[in-house]
Amino acid sequence: MLLWIAFLTGIPLLTLYLFDRTHYHRLRQYARFPQLPPSWIWGHMKTLDGVMGEGDRRRHIDQVFLEIHTKLDKPPLFVVDLRPVLYSICVICNHEVAEQISRASKAFPYSLPKGDVLGNFEPLIGGQSILSAQGSEWKALRKRFNSGFAPQHLISLLPGILDRVQRFIDILDDHARSGEIFALDEPCINLTFDIIGTVTMDTNLHAQGNPGTQSPIVTTFRQLVSLYRTNGSASWDQFKIVTKLQRWMLSRRLDAMLRNHVQKSYTAWKSRSSNAKNSRSVLALSFEGVDNLDANLLASTCDQLKTFLFAGHDTTSSLLQWAFYELSRTPHALRALRDELNEVLGPDSSSTAIREQLLSQRGESLLSRMTYTAAVIKEALRLHPPAGTGRFVSQGTGFNVTLPDGEVLCLDGMILHNCETIIQRDGKVYGVTKDAFVPERWIEHTTPGFTSNPNVKTESGSESGTGIPASAWRPFERGPRNCIGQELANLEAKIVLACTLRRFDFVKVGLGEVVRDSQGRAVMGEFRQYAVKEELFNIMEVTGKPVDGTQMRVLFAKR
Ligand code: HEM
Ligand SMILES: *[C@@H]1O[C@H](CO)[C@@H](O)[C@H](O)[C@H]1NC(C)=O
Ligand SMILES: *[C@@H]1O[C@H](CO)[C@@H](O)[C@H](O)[C@H]1NC(C)=O
Ligand SMILES: *[C@@H]1O[C@H](CO)[C@@H](O)[C@H](O)[C@H]1NC(C)=O
Repeated sequence: MLLWIAFLTGIPLLTLYLFDRTHYHRLRQYARFPQLPPSWIWGHMKTLDGVMGEGDRRRHIDQVFLEIHTKLDKPPLFVVDLRPVLYSICVICNHEVAEQISRASKAFPYSLPKGDVLGNFEPLIGGQSILSAQGSEWKALRKRFNSGFAPQHLISLLPGILDRVQRFIDILDDHARSGEIFALDEPCINLTFDIIGTVTMDTNLHAQGNPGTQSPIVTTFRQLVSLYRTNGSASWDQFKIVTKLQRWMLSRRLDAMLRNHVQKSYTAWKSRSSNAKNSRSVLALSFEGVDNLDANLLASTCDQLKTFLFAGHDTTSSLLQWAFYELSRTPHALRALRDELNEVLGPDSSSTAIREQLLSQRGESLLSRMTYTAAVIKEALRLHPPAGTGRFVSQGTGFNVTLPDGEVLCLDGMILHNCETIIQRDGKVYGVTKDAFVPERWIEHTTPGFTSNPNVKTESGSESGTGIPASAWRPFERGPRNCIGQELANLEAKIVLACTLRRFDFVKVGLGEVVRDSQGRAVMGEFRQYAVKEELFNIMEVTGKPVDGTQMRVLFAKR
């Protein structure tokens, strides 16, 4: 009897409790934060899906966040509550706040922890990856690999990179001769994969080889990455058990191949005399100071290889595609870039001539004189950042940020996402040309021969002569956990652009195709860029990449 009474009074009490908790989590906990109207039951799940449905559902979630940011009248941050299916995300939209997330502080000497944000990517990068490691474990890895990415070392990789780029040119030559439409992502991915194969494991993976000659590491990797492709609302696919199982199986297969490679390399490395151990590949650096390749080290080394192979090719390939595309619709930028290449590398635009120049004593200084090329790369990464960062601090930490208006908010218990797509299109920083491709904005005012962009207000406190605060451009993120490979990515991109842009004209077809008048001439749109029929956009496949694989035609440029 007593039990019954307790039970019967318990139900309403429990209901009341759950009611109160839900009410708290959905409506009160983040009440101070800018957000779309939350639903008691759904949080923001339904509203988010609604915004996704307003455009092409395949577009990258950061693009959807950008649209929400505009709807909310551009706050410095906002909250999206996806509990209990996912989590609450705090989308950071302002560079000064982003900087508080990424910088080192007393409480967080290596910047805010990544928590379990990258958990879903474990099959791809492994459980001990430098990308997700924390604390002293991360520090030790970063220290070990830093020397492999130091600028003076990267320059020594030039001959190898130029060899790979030559193969890329040959492939584009074939496309130019055939005149067929092709997806530019394929040769770009294969090229960057080959380069990262050399840098990471001193191996030619033949990604650019004929079908059948590619290393199975390449093909398995590509398959695994494709299992992460999100498809708008169907992005819930990502969480399907079948998909998870497929990823796990491919990951196992990849691990077996990499283990085999690591073991063989270790044996070879050990038998070498110490002055022959001069490689600074990720693999060689993993062996330094090691006298026994135990199971743990073997597993960790595999994870680092996977991480570098992945982080090193997909992002850089996305950068190349966007750079080619933006140049194809921005005639003044293409002209300025070609002029610079003629001036710095000489009028002979054949790959042998360029190679000779870059491999000469002066190679390094020639590269550093390519300032317009560097600006093109910077601008492509500003408009189309392939990556970002996510961090997490648990409830009760007391992690506060100060907003530009002085308000202080505690960000405990949410995923913190520095959203470069929003930050790097901030009108307060980039002015009315924020959505346009304007490499000139990166040319310092003091450089003769270039006029600065009148649309950008000069602000004090910027680190260069461009008037743009350094923290407002962060495609490689900033602080201790910034990208270790950024110099390599820049070097690759510079060389690829230098070797191809005088040789070919790139013509986008499908999405991003330019509008032509009745005489077939391209029609100029805003800010000296050709108008396009429909904008090209990024999807998310771990990183951001053009939705159609960048369908193109290449032609031999008229000289
Ligand atoms: C355009 C090309 C690239 C972009 C936009 C890019 C972007 C980024 C970003 C945003 C991060 C921070 C990720 C996070 O916080 O979770 C990062 C980290 C990292 N990147 Fe890159 N990356 C590029 C190229 C490369 C290359 C070529 C390599 C390989 C050599 C590389 C290797 C790494 C590694 C290992 C980390 C983790 C660093 C650490 O936590 O200490 N990336 N990258
Ligand atoms: C690039 O790699 C893909 C597989 O990932 C392969 O099918 C294709 O033949 C390669 N293309 C070129 C041009 O090397
Ligand atoms: C993605 O969605 C489109 C329709 O929006 C569908 O045609 C396509 O098959 C989907 N792709 C994948 C890989 O699920
Ligand atoms: C964060 O702000 C809260 C409330 O203003 C304060 O109680 C807490 O001590 C702050 N945290 C830190 C680490 O200063």
